[in-house]
Formats: sequence, C-alpha cells, structure tokens
Amino acid sequence: MAEVPTSIVIFGASGDLTRRKLIPALYNQRLKGRISGPVHIIGMARSAFSHDEFRQRLHESMQELAGMSPEAESWQQFAQEVWYQAGDVTQATDYQALDGFLKKLEGGPANRLYYLATAPRFFPVIVQQLGDLEMSQEDTRWCRVVIEKPFGRDLQSAVELNQIVHSAFEEHQVYRIDHYLGKETAQNLLYFRFLNTIFEPLWNRNYIDHVQITVAENVDVGHRADYYEQAGVLRDMFQNHLMQLLTLVAMEPPAMFEADAVRNEKVKLLRAVRSIELGDTVRAQYEGYTATEGCSPESQTATFGAIKLYIDNWRWQGVPFYLRSGKALKEKSSEIVIEFKRPPHVLFPLPDDYDLTPNFLSLCIQPDEGIHLRFETKVPGSANETRSVDMEFHYPSSFGGQALPDAYERLLLDAIKGDASLFTRSDEIEMAWKLIDPIMRAWDDGNGAPALGLYRRGSWGPSEAETFIARDQRVWRMGCADRQ
Ligand code: BG6
Repeated sequence: MAEVPTSIVIFGASGDLTRRKLIPALYNQRLKGRISGPVHIIGMARSAFSHDEFRQRLHESMQELAGMSPEAESWQQFAQEVWYQAGDVTQATDYQALDGFLKKLEGGPANRLYYLATAPRFFPVIVQQLGDLEMSQEDTRWCRVVIEKPFGRDLQSAVELNQIVHSAFEEHQVYRIDHYLGKETAQNLLYFRFLNTIFEPLWNRNYIDHVQITVAENVDVGHRADYYEQAGVLRDMFQNHLMQLLTLVAMEPPAMFEADAVRNEKVKLLRAVRSIELGDTVRAQYEGYTATEGCSPESQTATFGAIKLYIDNWRWQGVPFYLRSGKALKEKSSEIVIEFKRPPHVLFPLPDDYDLTPNFLSLCIQPDEGIHLRFETKVPGSANETRSVDMEFHYPSSFGGQALPDAYERLLLDAIKGDASLFTRSDEIEMAWKLIDPIMRAWDDGNGAPALGLYRRGSWGPSEAETFIARDQRVWRMGCADRQ
C-alpha cells in the first residue's frame, strides 16, 4: 500500500526562523532519509512569491543564514517538495484557499503538521481558523500543530492560549516547542543521570551544595528590539529555556522514557519549586541598550537576570539553585554546574586560609559541548599545595569532528513521528509561568523589585550578580572552557 503523504505547512514562511532553522533542518533530515515517504512542504506568508521564487529564496538563505551549501542535485530534489501559498493568516478565505491547495497536492488522505513560525500574536487566530475549517481534524490521518515560543506573555495569557488551542486541537496533537530540549547536550542530561550509576547516588542534598545554570549570550538584542522590549530576559529565556534545563537537572527518574511519564516528572518538579523571593533576584541592562533602534530611551527592560530558587522536595531540600542569563555578555556559553559539598575534614597540612575549590561537575550545553569534572590533586613535590584539574569529555573527540545536529532537526522529526517527550505540555507551561509571573510583574512595574543594574557589554554581567551569590559565600563558576 502506498504511504500516506505528509504535508508540513509553515505559517510565517518568509521569516527568519523558517529560513535559518526550519528549512535547513527539514533538508538535512530528508537528505539523511529520516523523514520517509512522500512529503510536501508548504510555506504561507503574506508576500507574493511564485513557488520558484520561494524555493530560490530558501536556497539563498541556506548559505547566508544557515551557513550550508547544499549539493545542487540534492537541493533540486528537496526543492521539488517545497511549495508556496500566499495568504493572510487573519483571513478565513485564505485558509480555504490553503486547504484547497493542500488537497490538490495530497490527492487523498494525508498527514498534516502545521508549524506556527509567525509572530506570537497570530498564534490564537491561526489555531482558531484551523479549527473552524476543520483542518485540525484527525480521521484517517494524523494532524499536529507545532507552536513556537513564547507561548503566552504571562500566566493568564498562556492559560487563555491553551484554551483556544484546546478548542481546535486535542492535547496529543499539540507540540509546544522549546528548542533547548532539542539540543543533544540537554537530552544527554537525562542519559547522563539515568544511564550511569556513579553520579545519581550523589545527586541530592546530601552531596550537592548548590546548582548553577548559566545561559550567557554574547550577542545583543540586535534588530529584535520590538520583540525584546515586550519580553525582556525573563520571558525570553527564563520562563522557557532555563526552566526546562532546571527540570532536566532536578527531576526524578520517570518509570519509562515516554512523553507523558517524562512530562509528569517535570511538572512535579516545577510544582515543588518554592515561590521565588524578589530579594533573590537581580536584574540589569547592558550599557547602550536604550540607544538601540526600537527601544524606549527610558526602557527598564532587563537584558540580564539572576535568580535563586529552592525546590521543596525530599531530594533537594535546602539546596539553592542559581540561574542567570543575559545578552551582550563576554561569551556565548550555556552551562550547568553541580557543586559538591566540601570534605567534612581536611586532614592534609594545608594553610589555615587555604582556598580549597570544591568538586564541581560542569554539564556543557554549548558551545564547547561536553562534560567536565573538576577535582583536587596534590601538586607533585609539595605537601601543602593542591591544584584543581579536570576530567573531560568532549563530543568532537569522542564522536568525530562533525557538528552536533541542530536542535530543530530532532524536534521536527519527533513532531512528525508523534513523540512529544521533548515538547512542553499545557500544565508544564502554565507551571513555569506561575513561577516567573510574580517576578515579571514586579520587575515590570518596579514594585518591590531590585533596582535595575547596569553592566558593561562584554562583561559577565552586573556587579550585583556577583554580590548576590557572594552573600551566600559562593561564586559563579564556569568549568566548560579553560578560562580559570
Ligand atoms: C531564543 C531567544 O529562544 O533563544 C533568543 O528568543 C536567544 O533571544 C536564543 O538568543 C538562544 O538560543 P541558542 O540556541 O542560540 O542558545
């Protein structure tokens, strides 16, 4: 029997995400043969393009935006599966036209994956229109929707968006994307924890002093000021990416690696997070931010944030988790540091004021993907001196030099296969908002919030972030790159 075709419909097809991430990911997966059977990729946006103009534009962006040079023959083959349908996502008639076009291409029953890569304000209308026209119905085919971030802009709007989504799609059809979950190194966190026996017995309050999650970016806001002014670092990075990394590092092992089992554990973890005190937050802006085109000169938008939180459960009681993220920092580096407790008694003749570095494990998410374990050794020939050294794992040296697949490759493939393990469920997204919402509101209206700090571009953030962790007699650590 012939395989049912799959139509992948991208709303927002002229945008950056489509050209930079989605098309390169689909091209790579098609080339590797991971997406099998007949496929139609249909882009929809308002601009008027012919099919060929659209294909040509995508081809150019493969090089310009994704840094890829597809072979002529394989690109040609891929391009034959790509189509364009001009349309305005707010107009019902344009969905009818789209549906008609799809049906003609499909020539019978076909699976459908709708990808919402538009500005977030269009998510509700697209979902509603798909529902109204019964384009979301599953009968002889599957039908799924992938929704980009940000999913809502606070708890209330996320709840409302979930309601709208559920009026058109059932939860099993909905794939809320957080591309951090598609990163190999983020997925490897669960493998590292639950496929090895050496660390898991230590992974709790008895051995761990605290955990740090840093997602640092060297890029600034660039041309995204319109969006960023509304978002700030809390909505842009904390509610989604940092909270997801937190769940991976802190959740309990699910009974099986299956979408709902994994997501139940993540929700359980988020539920156990204690409300975050405003005094346990730091907010700051990089110098020159307000001069960016599209920013208000009085803007109070935070481009850097740090928070401390606690998880009230058996495993983590009393262990602080420090999270920080910012733009225009010294380097792009995402890293999770697990700092272990100091030895209960030092029996070696080290000077009284000796600054002994505790053991810490760095889970390097990017760009230097790998794992480092820092521990102390005796300096040869000396009886009262030690040095911190690393045991290191680097992906390139263990798995060959090629770059790790982009997160979108894995996530698109999972959405097509129907595996939602790496996508965020409705209750999970609401829980994450619930934690961030009160801080966001206080930061937005300045009520009880810490003063907005200022930091130099190219630094590691404001001095307030250093004081913040120093008041707990701790320091920010970065163990992935050799910069100590
Ligand atoms: C996006 C944010 O979700 O993640 C951006 O909107 C940010 O502001 C980006 O730059 C970071 O992603 P990555 O994969 O480069 O760490």
